Amino acid sequence: MSDSKKRQALPTGAERELQIYALGLSGGKPSVPMPLDLLEQKAKEILPPRAYDYVAGGAGGEDTMRANREAFYDWRIVPQMLRDVSKRDLSVELLGARLPAPVLLGPVGAQEIVHNDADVASARAAASLGLPFVLSTVSSRSMEEVAQSAAKVAESPRWFQLYWGKNPELTASMVQRAERAGYSALVVTLDTHSLGWRERDLHHGYLPFMLGQGLANYFSDPVFRGLLPQAPEQNPAAAIQLWGSLFSNAALTWKDIGFLRQHTRVPIILKGILHANDAARALDAGVDALIVSNHGGRQVDGSVGALDALPGAVREVNGRVPVLFDSGIRRGADVFKALALGARAVLLGRLYMWGLAVAGEEGVRDVLLNLVADLDLTMALSGYTCCRELDASALCRSDSREPLCQPQL
Ligand SMILES: Cc1cc2nc3c(=O)[nH]c(=O)nc-3n(C[C@H](O)[C@H](O)[C@H](O)COP(=O)(O)O)c2cc1C
Repeated sequence: MSDSKKRQALPTGAERELQIYALGLSGGKPSVPMPLDLLEQKAKEILPPRAYDYVAGGAGGEDTMRANREAFYDWRIVPQMLRDVSKRDLSVELLGARLPAPVLLGPVGAQEIVHNDADVASARAAASLGLPFVLSTVSSRSMEEVAQSAAKVAESPRWFQLYWGKNPELTASMVQRAERAGYSALVVTLDTHSLGWRERDLHHGYLPFMLGQGLANYFSDPVFRGLLPQAPEQNPAAAIQLWGSLFSNAALTWKDIGFLRQHTRVPIILKGILHANDAARALDAGVDALIVSNHGGRQVDGSVGALDALPGAVREVNGRVPVLFDSGIRRGADVFKALALGARAVLLGRLYMWGLAVAGEEGVRDVLLNLVADLDLTMALSGYTCCRELDASALCRSDSREPLCQPQL
């Protein structure tokens, strides 16, 4: 069977609505609650409190998490009428691949704390819809296992996210393993050389990695194993301790990016850019794309809302490389606003974790289908047929309610 046969075409918003209403006629429901507050509430009921808090929480007083959402409220869509929106195409080109919609599953570590099938379920759900999946360095299953399992569903882009630690041989080993396993881009997360001050996790005294969760890529790595006197299976405590001593590297600087270039041929994407100066440095470093993100508010409390940082980064990049966005995406309108402000595509974090917690692979797939359907309807009802058409003239600031530019009539 060809990939396109195994892969489910993304339904339009109206088709998805009809599927759900038809299901309702026979007393059925999608695998996940439709209102997002109920989805998160259901996940909260299912998960142990410390696992729920690990996913839901952020740094300090969680001001940055709030700022992420408030940044979306500051913009309003200004719909335009009578523009023949009967045929729509949500696909976008990204690093040589055409995605059926501008949505990726972002890197989320230690997924086993919300569901046993963890990263395998998420990667399979993404593959079934042809959407990219970004595997975290601190995944619960090894990068090879996730790649094999997802490829059985359908071929769709898989990227590897790197937490760049202290041991260069280990970093090189992970990067090369990822390339061999078919991960077609390297996402280097810059904002987590230390864990943010996360009050909820500190309150529970809980960090999944200290229990050996999320360390599959380390425990399966030949360089990491070679640094241990006994295998991780025999002496997990020593392996966890070694992980703790190597995980992060606060000494890295822009000069170090060259090291990664020497060890991989795949595109390099920097995640965690907020300052326009850093967008300029990223271009100087010759990277292939960047992700404007504040890690979902998990790192610096009181940081700028990620969407507020997007226009400055987009201006600086000026079309030279794609700019992606995450932190706070929940609904179609959020994706619309991020694209209108210059993002090529967006990544999801907590949103798909709630789907995974509630219904595993099917839950992640339903979350994706719902988000894309919502985006499709938002575009159609606002007068747009494809992502390329979106720019800031589609929006106004919520305090002015005036379009930024005069719409083209
Ligand atoms: C539980 C959890 C674990 C995460 N793990 C990683 C990770 O391993 N690597 C990474 O680059 N980002 C990680 N992130 C950040 C996400 O990739 C993304 O930036 C963030 O979740 C976006 O914010 P949102 O969830 O509010 O949409 C994690 C986020 C959450 C919620």
